[in-house]
Amino acid sequence: MKAISIAEGVYSIHAELTTDVFFEGFWRIPTGITLNSYLVRGEKTALIELAKNCDNSIAHYEEQLASIGSSLEQIDFLILNHLEPDHTDFLNEFRKKNGRAEIISTPKGIAFVRNFFNINENLREVKNGDTLDLGKGKILTFFETPNIHWPETMMTYDINEKILFSCDAFGSYGTLGERVFDDEFSAEEHACFEKESLRYYANIVSSFSTFVKKAIEKLGNTEIKTIAPSHGMIWRRNPAEIVSRYAKYAGYNTGGPCEKEICIIWGSMYGYTKQGLDAVIEGIKEEGVPYTIHRIPDTDSSFILADAYRAEGLVLAMPTYEYKMFPPMAQILDLFGRKHFTGKKALRIGSWAGSAERKRNMTKQLPISNGQVWNPLNGRVYPARKILRF
Ligand code: FEO
Repeated sequence: MKAISIAEGVYSIHAELTTDVFFEGFWRIPTGITLNSYLVRGEKTALIELAKNCDNSIAHYEEQLASIGSSLEQIDFLILNHLEPDHTDFLNEFRKKNGRAEIISTPKGIAFVRNFFNINENLREVKNGDTLDLGKGKILTFFETPNIHWPETMMTYDINEKILFSCDAFGSYGTLGERVFDDEFSAEEHACFEKESLRYYANIVSSFSTFVKKAIEKLGNTEIKTIAPSHGMIWRRNPAEIVSRYAKYAGYNTGGPCEKEICIIWGSMYGYTKQGLDAVIEGIKEEGVPYTIHRIPDTDSSFILADAYRAEGLVLAMPTYEYKMFPPMAQILDLFGRKHFTGKKALRIGSWAGSAERKRNMTKQLPISNGQVWNPLNGRVYPARKILRF
Protein backbone atom coordinates (compact mmCIF):
# COMPACT_ATOMS: atom_id res chain seq x y z
CA MET A 1 0.00 0.00 0.00
CA LYS A 2 1.20 3.53 -0.83
CA ALA A 3 0.76 6.83 0.98
CA ILE A 4 -1.80 9.02 -0.80
CA SER A 5 -1.17 12.68 -1.59
CA ILE A 6 -3.83 15.00 -0.18
CA ALA A 7 -2.19 18.34 -1.00
CA GLU A 8 1.29 19.77 -1.55
CA GLY A 9 3.48 18.05 1.06
CA VAL A 10 0.54 16.36 2.84
CA TYR A 11 -0.05 12.60 2.68
CA SER A 12 -2.56 10.12 4.08
CA ILE A 13 -1.36 6.88 5.66
CA HIS A 14 -3.77 4.38 7.09
CA ALA A 15 -4.22 1.00 8.71
CA GLU A 16 -7.46 -0.96 8.50
CA LEU A 17 -9.07 -3.00 11.24
CA THR A 18 -11.10 -5.77 9.73
CA THR A 19 -14.37 -7.38 10.63
CA ASP A 20 -13.22 -9.97 13.16
CA VAL A 21 -12.46 -7.47 15.89
CA PHE A 22 -14.58 -5.37 18.22
CA PHE A 23 -13.85 -1.66 18.28
CA GLU A 24 -13.10 -0.50 21.82
CA GLY A 25 -13.43 -4.15 22.80
CA PHE A 26 -17.21 -4.41 22.36
CA TRP A 27 -18.61 -2.55 19.35
CA ARG A 28 -19.09 -4.80 16.34
CA ILE A 29 -17.56 -3.44 13.13
CA PRO A 30 -18.68 -5.68 10.27
CA THR A 31 -17.55 -3.01 7.80
CA GLY A 32 -14.23 -2.55 9.64
CA ILE A 33 -12.64 0.81 10.43
CA THR A 34 -9.64 2.78 9.23
CA LEU A 35 -7.00 4.27 11.52
CA ASN A 36 -5.74 7.33 9.67
CA SER A 37 -2.45 9.14 10.10
CA TYR A 38 -1.11 12.05 8.10
CA LEU A 39 2.38 13.13 7.14
CA VAL A 40 3.06 16.87 6.61
CA ARG A 41 6.35 17.85 5.05
CA GLY A 42 8.10 21.23 5.00
CA GLU A 43 11.84 21.40 5.67
CA LYS A 44 10.94 19.26 8.68
CA THR A 45 8.44 16.42 8.74
CA ALA A 46 5.50 15.94 11.07
CA LEU A 47 3.50 12.76 11.49
CA ILE A 48 0.01 13.24 12.89
CA GLU A 49 -0.95 10.17 14.94
CA LEU A 50 0.05 6.51 14.90
CA ALA A 51 -2.22 3.45 15.03
CA LYS A 52 -3.16 0.32 16.92
CA ASN A 53 -0.41 -2.26 16.91
CA CYS A 54 -2.23 -5.06 15.11
CA ASP A 55 -2.44 -6.86 11.78
CA ASN A 56 1.18 -5.94 11.11
CA SER A 57 0.24 -2.24 11.15
CA ILE A 58 3.78 -1.00 11.86
CA ALA A 59 5.07 -2.75 8.75
CA HIS A 60 2.15 -1.28 6.76
CA TYR A 61 3.03 2.20 8.02
CA GLU A 62 6.68 1.75 7.13
CA GLU A 63 5.69 0.56 3.66
CA GLN A 64 3.50 3.61 3.11
CA LEU A 65 6.14 5.99 4.45
CA ALA A 66 8.76 4.38 2.19
CA SER A 67 6.49 5.00 -0.82
CA ILE A 68 7.03 8.77 -0.32
CA GLY A 69 10.71 8.48 0.60
CA SER A 70 10.18 8.75 4.35
CA SER A 71 10.42 6.47 7.38
CA LEU A 72 9.57 6.43 11.08
CA GLU A 73 13.23 7.29 11.76
CA GLN A 74 12.98 10.48 9.67
CA ILE A 75 10.01 11.98 11.51
CA ASP A 76 10.91 15.25 13.28
CA PHE A 77 7.61 15.82 15.09
CA LEU A 78 5.01 13.30 16.17
CA ILE A 79 1.70 15.09 16.79
CA LEU A 80 -0.75 13.18 18.99
CA ASN A 81 -4.20 14.73 18.72
CA HIS A 82 -5.56 12.11 21.09
CA LEU A 83 -3.96 9.40 23.21
CA GLU A 84 -6.46 6.55 22.85
CA PRO A 85 -4.51 3.43 21.83
CA ASP A 86 -6.19 3.18 18.41
CA HIS A 87 -3.94 6.18 17.62
CA THR A 88 -0.95 5.56 19.86
CA ASP A 89 -0.61 1.82 20.46
CA PHE A 90 2.83 1.55 18.88
CA LEU A 91 4.23 4.74 20.42
CA ASN A 92 6.89 2.82 22.37
CA GLU A 93 7.96 0.96 19.22
CA PHE A 94 8.10 4.31 17.42
CA ARG A 95 10.27 5.71 20.23
CA LYS A 96 12.70 2.81 19.99
CA LYS A 97 13.20 3.60 16.30
CA ASN A 98 13.26 7.37 16.74
CA GLY A 99 14.45 8.87 20.02
CA ARG A 100 14.87 12.42 18.69
CA ALA A 101 11.39 13.20 17.35
CA GLU A 102 9.56 15.74 19.46
CA ILE A 103 6.19 14.44 20.63
CA ILE A 104 3.55 17.16 20.59
CA SER A 105 0.20 17.13 22.36
CA THR A 106 -1.94 19.11 24.81
CA PRO A 107 -0.72 19.28 28.44
CA LYS A 108 -3.10 16.44 29.33
CA GLY A 109 -1.89 14.48 26.31
CA ILE A 110 1.74 14.90 27.34
CA ALA A 111 0.83 13.73 30.85
CA PHE A 112 -0.57 10.57 29.24
CA VAL A 113 2.67 10.10 27.27
CA ARG A 114 4.67 10.32 30.50
CA ASN A 115 2.38 8.24 32.71
CA PHE A 116 1.05 5.62 30.32
CA PHE A 117 4.01 5.12 27.97
CA ASN A 118 6.78 6.15 30.37
CA ILE A 119 8.31 8.46 27.78
CA ASN A 120 9.83 11.58 29.32
CA GLU A 121 12.19 13.09 26.73
CA ASN A 122 11.55 15.42 23.79
CA LEU A 123 7.98 16.31 24.71
CA ARG A 124 6.20 19.55 23.85
CA GLU A 125 2.92 20.76 25.30
CA VAL A 126 0.80 22.93 23.01
CA LYS A 127 -2.25 25.01 23.75
CA ASN A 128 -5.04 26.44 21.67
CA GLY A 129 -3.65 28.62 18.87
CA ASP A 130 0.01 27.56 19.24
CA THR A 131 1.80 27.00 15.94
CA LEU A 132 4.46 24.67 14.58
CA ASP A 133 6.57 25.97 11.69
CA LEU A 134 7.88 23.10 9.56
CA GLY A 135 9.73 25.42 7.17
CA LYS A 136 9.08 26.07 3.46
CA GLY A 137 6.00 28.03 4.57
CA LYS A 138 4.30 24.97 6.04
CA ILE A 139 2.71 25.98 9.35
CA LEU A 140 0.43 23.93 11.57
CA THR A 141 -1.74 25.26 14.38
CA PHE A 142 -3.68 23.50 17.12
CA PHE A 143 -7.25 23.71 18.41
CA GLU A 144 -8.01 22.22 21.81
CA THR A 145 -11.25 20.24 21.49
CA PRO A 146 -11.53 18.40 24.81
CA ASN A 147 -13.67 15.29 25.12
CA ILE A 148 -13.94 14.45 21.44
CA HIS A 149 -13.32 11.88 22.44
CA TRP A 150 -11.01 11.91 25.47
CA PRO A 151 -10.19 14.92 27.71
CA GLU A 152 -6.81 15.64 26.09
CA THR A 153 -8.08 15.82 22.51
CA MET A 154 -7.02 18.52 20.07
CA MET A 155 -7.23 19.04 16.32
CA THR A 156 -4.38 20.11 14.05
CA TYR A 157 -4.85 22.57 11.18
CA ASP A 158 -2.64 23.14 8.13
CA ILE A 159 -2.84 26.91 7.69
CA ASN A 160 -1.59 26.87 4.08
CA GLU A 161 -3.70 24.06 2.68
CA LYS A 162 -6.63 24.69 5.07
CA ILE A 163 -6.78 21.04 6.04
CA LEU A 164 -8.30 20.16 9.41
CA PHE A 165 -6.91 16.96 10.96
CA SER A 166 -9.94 16.44 13.14
CA CYS A 167 -9.05 13.34 15.17
CA ASP A 168 -12.15 11.28 16.17
CA ALA A 169 -14.55 14.06 15.15
CA PHE A 170 -16.13 13.72 11.69
CA GLY A 171 -15.10 10.05 11.57
CA SER A 172 -16.94 6.90 10.61
CA TYR A 173 -16.78 3.13 10.71
CA GLY A 174 -15.95 1.40 7.42
CA THR A 175 -12.70 0.50 5.71
CA LEU A 176 -11.68 2.39 2.58
CA GLY A 177 -9.12 0.27 0.71
CA GLU A 178 -7.20 2.27 -1.88
CA ARG A 179 -9.76 5.10 -2.08
CA VAL A 180 -9.77 7.72 0.67
CA PHE A 181 -11.58 10.83 -0.68
CA ASP A 182 -15.30 11.58 -0.51
CA ASP A 183 -15.41 12.23 -4.27
CA GLU A 184 -14.20 8.68 -5.00
CA PHE A 185 -17.29 6.94 -3.61
CA SER A 186 -20.64 6.38 -5.31
CA ALA A 187 -23.96 7.64 -3.92
CA GLU A 188 -24.73 4.07 -2.88
CA GLU A 189 -21.43 3.77 -1.01
CA HIS A 190 -22.03 7.15 0.63
CA ALA A 191 -25.43 5.92 1.84
CA CYS A 192 -23.68 2.97 3.51
CA PHE A 193 -21.00 5.22 5.05
CA GLU A 194 -23.69 7.62 6.28
CA LYS A 195 -25.26 4.79 8.27
CA GLU A 196 -21.85 3.83 9.57
CA SER A 197 -21.01 7.41 10.53
CA LEU A 198 -24.20 7.55 12.60
CA ARG A 199 -23.42 4.19 14.21
CA TYR A 200 -19.86 5.35 14.95
CA TYR A 201 -21.20 8.61 16.41
CA ALA A 202 -23.86 6.87 18.53
CA ASN A 203 -21.36 4.28 19.81
CA ILE A 204 -18.22 6.36 20.31
CA VAL A 205 -18.98 10.08 20.37
CA SER A 206 -22.58 10.61 21.53
CA SER A 207 -21.73 10.92 25.22
CA PHE A 208 -19.81 14.07 24.29
CA SER A 209 -22.35 15.86 22.07
CA THR A 210 -22.14 19.14 23.99
CA PHE A 211 -18.40 19.17 23.26
CA VAL A 212 -19.02 18.40 19.58
CA LYS A 213 -21.30 21.42 19.39
CA LYS A 214 -18.67 23.60 21.11
CA ALA A 215 -15.98 22.39 18.70
CA ILE A 216 -18.13 23.08 15.64
CA GLU A 217 -18.79 26.58 17.01
CA LYS A 218 -15.07 27.09 17.70
CA LEU A 219 -14.19 26.13 14.13
CA GLY A 220 -16.88 28.42 12.73
CA ASN A 221 -14.48 31.18 11.63
CA THR A 222 -11.85 28.83 10.22
CA GLU A 223 -11.77 28.26 6.48
CA ILE A 224 -11.71 24.51 5.96
CA LYS A 225 -11.08 23.11 2.50
CA THR A 226 -10.49 19.53 3.60
CA ILE A 227 -11.43 17.51 6.68
CA ALA A 228 -9.01 14.68 7.37
CA PRO A 229 -10.36 12.64 10.31
CA SER A 230 -8.67 9.80 12.14
CA HIS A 231 -11.34 7.31 11.02
CA GLY A 232 -13.09 7.13 7.67
CA MET A 233 -12.88 9.07 4.45
CA ILE A 234 -11.20 12.42 3.77
CA TRP A 235 -13.71 15.13 2.88
CA ARG A 236 -12.23 17.36 0.14
CA ARG A 237 -15.23 17.83 -2.17
CA ASN A 238 -17.84 18.54 0.46
CA PRO A 239 -16.44 18.94 4.00
CA ALA A 240 -19.59 20.84 5.00
CA GLU A 241 -21.56 17.61 4.57
CA ILE A 242 -19.85 15.77 7.41
CA VAL A 243 -19.88 18.87 9.64
CA SER A 244 -23.64 19.35 9.21
CA ARG A 245 -24.16 15.63 9.74
CA TYR A 246 -22.25 15.80 13.03
CA ALA A 247 -24.16 18.93 14.09
CA LYS A 248 -27.40 17.02 13.51
CA TYR A 249 -26.15 13.96 15.41
CA ALA A 250 -25.02 16.16 18.31
CA GLY A 251 -28.54 17.56 18.50
CA TYR A 252 -30.17 14.16 18.92
CA ASN A 253 -29.28 14.04 22.63
CA THR A 254 -28.95 17.74 23.40
CA GLY A 255 -32.42 19.04 22.68
CA GLY A 256 -32.24 19.23 18.89
CA PRO A 257 -34.80 17.50 16.69
CA CYS A 258 -34.69 13.73 16.31
CA GLU A 259 -36.09 11.85 13.33
CA LYS A 260 -39.85 11.31 13.23
CA GLU A 261 -39.58 7.58 13.51
CA ILE A 262 -39.87 4.83 16.08
CA CYS A 263 -37.24 2.35 17.18
CA ILE A 264 -38.81 -0.80 18.59
CA ILE A 265 -36.65 -2.91 20.89
CA TRP A 266 -38.15 -6.08 22.20
CA GLY A 267 -37.52 -9.35 24.00
CA SER A 268 -39.98 -12.02 25.03
CA MET A 269 -39.62 -15.15 27.16
CA TYR A 270 -42.79 -17.07 26.33
CA GLY A 271 -44.42 -14.97 23.61
CA TYR A 272 -46.84 -12.84 25.67
CA THR A 273 -44.84 -9.63 25.34
CA LYS A 274 -44.51 -10.38 21.62
CA GLN A 275 -48.28 -10.73 21.43
CA GLY A 276 -48.68 -7.23 22.86
CA LEU A 277 -45.99 -5.84 20.59
CA ASP A 278 -47.72 -7.21 17.50
CA ALA A 279 -50.76 -5.11 18.37
CA VAL A 280 -48.58 -2.00 18.66
CA ILE A 281 -46.82 -2.73 15.37
CA GLU A 282 -50.22 -3.06 13.72
CA GLY A 283 -51.08 0.39 15.03
CA ILE A 284 -47.77 1.86 13.84
CA LYS A 285 -48.28 0.38 10.37
CA GLU A 286 -51.82 1.74 10.14
CA GLU A 287 -50.47 5.19 10.93
CA GLY A 288 -47.59 4.88 8.45
CA VAL A 289 -44.92 5.91 10.96
CA PRO A 290 -41.42 4.76 9.86
CA TYR A 291 -39.89 2.31 12.31
CA THR A 292 -36.94 0.02 12.92
CA ILE A 293 -37.21 -3.12 15.02
CA HIS A 294 -34.61 -5.07 16.98
CA ARG A 295 -35.03 -8.19 19.07
CA ILE A 296 -32.79 -8.50 22.11
CA PRO A 297 -30.43 -10.11 22.75
CA ASP A 298 -30.23 -11.21 19.08
CA THR A 299 -29.26 -7.81 17.65
CA ASP A 300 -25.90 -6.33 18.53
CA SER A 301 -26.23 -3.28 20.77
CA SER A 302 -24.13 -1.09 18.45
CA PHE A 303 -26.88 -1.25 15.80
CA ILE A 304 -29.72 -0.79 18.30
CA LEU A 305 -27.98 2.24 19.74
CA ALA A 306 -27.71 3.91 16.31
CA ASP A 307 -31.39 3.44 15.42
CA ALA A 308 -32.60 4.39 18.89
CA TYR A 309 -30.29 7.42 19.02
CA ARG A 310 -31.81 9.03 15.94
CA ALA A 311 -35.46 8.15 16.65
CA GLU A 312 -37.88 10.49 18.41
CA GLY A 313 -39.96 7.55 19.66
CA LEU A 314 -39.00 4.33 21.37
CA VAL A 315 -41.14 1.27 21.96
CA LEU A 316 -39.56 -0.95 24.60
CA ALA A 317 -41.20 -4.34 24.96
CA MET A 318 -39.90 -6.78 27.55
CA PRO A 319 -41.09 -9.01 30.33
CA THR A 320 -40.32 -8.91 34.03
CA TYR A 321 -37.53 -11.26 35.08
CA GLU A 322 -36.96 -12.17 38.72
CA TYR A 323 -38.94 -9.07 39.80
CA LYS A 324 -36.79 -6.76 37.69
CA MET A 325 -36.38 -5.78 34.09
CA PHE A 326 -35.54 -8.42 31.46
CA PRO A 327 -31.70 -8.33 31.68
CA PRO A 328 -30.91 -7.74 27.96
CA MET A 329 -33.20 -4.67 28.03
CA ALA A 330 -31.60 -3.43 31.25
CA GLN A 331 -28.24 -3.57 29.46
CA ILE A 332 -29.59 -1.54 26.52
CA LEU A 333 -31.14 1.05 28.83
CA ASP A 334 -27.84 1.33 30.71
CA LEU A 335 -26.21 2.25 27.39
CA PHE A 336 -28.95 4.82 26.70
CA GLY A 337 -28.16 6.40 30.07
CA ARG A 338 -24.43 6.47 29.38
CA LYS A 339 -25.08 8.11 26.01
CA HIS A 340 -27.24 10.76 27.67
CA PHE A 341 -30.45 9.96 25.82
CA THR A 342 -32.91 12.68 26.60
CA GLY A 343 -36.32 13.86 25.45
CA LYS A 344 -37.26 10.59 23.76
CA LYS A 345 -40.90 9.61 23.80
CA ALA A 346 -41.12 6.06 25.02
CA LEU A 347 -43.79 3.44 25.22
CA ARG A 348 -43.05 0.50 27.49
CA ILE A 349 -44.91 -2.72 26.81
CA GLY A 350 -44.76 -5.71 29.07
CA SER A 351 -46.29 -7.81 31.72
CA TRP A 352 -45.88 -6.79 35.33
CA ALA A 353 -48.00 -9.73 36.46
CA GLY A 354 -50.75 -7.53 37.90
CA SER A 355 -48.56 -5.89 40.53
CA ALA A 356 -48.91 -2.10 40.74
CA GLU A 357 -45.61 -1.87 42.60
CA ARG A 358 -43.82 -3.82 39.91
CA LYS A 359 -45.36 -1.52 37.31
CA ARG A 360 -44.11 1.53 39.23
CA ASN A 361 -40.64 0.04 39.53
CA MET A 362 -40.45 -0.82 35.83
CA THR A 363 -41.44 2.72 34.91
CA LYS A 364 -38.83 4.16 37.26
CA GLN A 365 -36.17 2.07 35.53
CA LEU A 366 -36.82 3.87 32.23
CA PRO A 367 -34.16 6.59 31.99
CA ILE A 368 -36.29 8.33 29.39
CA SER A 369 -38.88 11.08 29.60
CA ASN A 370 -42.56 10.49 28.87
CA GLY A 371 -42.33 6.81 29.71
CA GLN A 372 -45.69 5.11 29.43
CA VAL A 373 -46.54 1.60 30.45
CA TRP A 374 -49.06 -0.65 28.82
CA ASN A 375 -50.08 -4.17 29.67
CA PRO A 376 -50.17 -6.06 26.36
CA LEU A 377 -52.74 -8.61 27.27
CA ASN A 378 -55.81 -6.57 26.45
CA GLY A 379 -55.48 -7.45 22.79
CA ARG A 380 -56.31 -4.12 21.16
CA VAL A 381 -54.49 -2.29 18.37
CA TYR A 382 -52.47 0.49 19.88
CA PRO A 383 -52.20 4.00 18.30
CA ALA A 384 -48.45 4.57 18.67
CA ARG A 385 -48.43 8.01 17.07
CA LYS A 386 -50.95 9.24 19.65
CA ILE A 387 -49.11 7.86 22.63
CA LEU A 388 -45.75 9.12 21.31
CA ARG A 389 -47.36 12.47 20.38
CA PHE A 390 -45.51 13.01 17.10
FE1 FEO B 1 -10.22 6.93 17.60
FE2 FEO B 1 -11.03 7.97 20.70
O1 FEO B 1 -10.01 7.09 19.45
